[in-house]
Amino acid sequence: MIKPIKILILGLILILAACKTTNDTTEPETMAYSEQHRPQFHFTPPQQWMNDPNGMVYYDGEYHLFYQHYPDNNVWGPMHWGHAVSKDLVTWEQLPIALYPDSLGLIFSGSAVIDWNNTSGFGKGDKPPMVAIYTYHLMEGEKNGRHDFQTQGIAYSNDNGRTWTKYEGNPVIPNTDDIHDFRDPKVFWHTESEQWVMILAANDKVMLYNSKDLKAWTFASEFGVGHGSQARPWECPDLFELKTEDGDSKWVMIVSIGNRIAEQAPNGGSGTQYFIGDFDGTTFTNEEEESVTRWIDYGRDDYAGVTWSDMPSDDGRRIFIGWMSNWQYALLVPTYAWRSAMTLPRTLELKDTDAGLRLASIPVKETAQLRTDNSFELADETITDSKKIDLGFSPKMLEVVLEAEIGDGANFGIELSNSKGEVYRVGLNTADNQYYSDRTKAGKIDFSEHFAAKVHTAPSNYNTNTVKWHLFFDVASCELFAEDGTTVITDIYFPNEDFDTISFYSESGSTEVKKASFYEMKRIW
Ligand code: FRU
Repeated sequence: MIKPIKILILGLILILAACKTTNDTTEPETMAYSEQHRPQFHFTPPQQWMNDPNGMVYYDGEYHLFYQHYPDNNVWGPMHWGHAVSKDLVTWEQLPIALYPDSLGLIFSGSAVIDWNNTSGFGKGDKPPMVAIYTYHLMEGEKNGRHDFQTQGIAYSNDNGRTWTKYEGNPVIPNTDDIHDFRDPKVFWHTESEQWVMILAANDKVMLYNSKDLKAWTFASEFGVGHGSQARPWECPDLFELKTEDGDSKWVMIVSIGNRIAEQAPNGGSGTQYFIGDFDGTTFTNEEEESVTRWIDYGRDDYAGVTWSDMPSDDGRRIFIGWMSNWQYALLVPTYAWRSAMTLPRTLELKDTDAGLRLASIPVKETAQLRTDNSFELADETITDSKKIDLGFSPKMLEVVLEAEIGDGANFGIELSNSKGEVYRVGLNTADNQYYSDRTKAGKIDFSEHFAAKVHTAPSNYNTNTVKWHLFFDVASCELFAEDGTTVITDIYFPNEDFDTISFYSESGSTEVKKASFYEMKRIW
């Protein structure tokens, strides 16, 4: 027979278990992913601070996304690598933190590769290791005024990135030349020369290294002084081969410039430039004039982006993701439980434009899976002044595909608004052939003097008023892909109340909207 005292204890255990379960499902409250301003179909961390995407690698059916993460606060702090995986690039499973700081320093940005031939010897049986290559940032070194506080380390995983072992021989590249900003290694296997290549940011240039085993690295070359934007520090480089539309091979280098103070990127603060040229396994040659600067995105909120490693060869895409913020105000944006989102993943391609060869960003095709059954179409509609569009659903999570003929000299665009009179506008003014994004009246802007100081602009690469646009609005962000993805604007905004109204406007002339499709998007959480 069960004694009453036992029943009491059992009851208590059950009550405690029930409390625990309740706690688990509500904790952290942020798991609901429904706070004000939280994007609903873009990747965000479950809680606290996030910056750069790191270690993106495809393996065994999973796209890995690691990221700069401070799990104890919603501002930048001791960096860890957060971790998430996706099977389709649109829905994400959050995983435990992958890399923690250790005695060599904090874990700054870097990359990951699959070491298919087990050159490192870290593999187990037939399974190739996943190897992460990252920067160690030693706070004490920096505090003591030293310049050698950033070094490069590696770690490996034999269980699909779930657990990691740091290499006992770290750092694999010490900082013997006292380079103050010496970081963000991106590594890839160069088939022709049969070796690993590392591209590393170093103050105002990049340095290239070669290795046979991911452990011993030799300096190969450097690139950058006098080329492109000279704002510093250069950060988060990437280097990869892409074919032109004619099938010629080119090498594209991406370099972010982390300017925190000066107005350097096209619309201020930090931004990402690219170079098109050639690479032979050791040296990159820029095929354009040194002074030319090209930007992957003209918005303020696409930074530190790099591409996925080890995409299956029958896929062949070069897929990029960026951090949807800007160092000028990232720590101040009005979100609290979590801070920052990633851009949508984008396929990078080289396109011929009226202005020459350009790098295009195109939202990955998987994004179409996010469309709900709610859609709306408009055809052959002349816009004069302004036209509200009655979608029959909210525009706050929306994809728009649009073809229009803008009148000569007209200013045409899309406006999101709410009952508080807050307005966000994105469009093309044919009077000066400039795309623009205007968040100056889009809600909360006072948290930083840099956030909405001006309207952001992007020069058009085409001499035509016939436009095809692809846009995504997600609660607190707009991504505009125009001109086949060669003109991109990514901007975030923070309306006090979600935008619930969408309109077209055409000022100083009318616009013929030939076709516009609107899709309500699903939330991914
Ligand atoms: C870029 C960056 C990287 C660095 C990381 C630190 O945003 O400054 O250069 O590794 O962030 O979190």
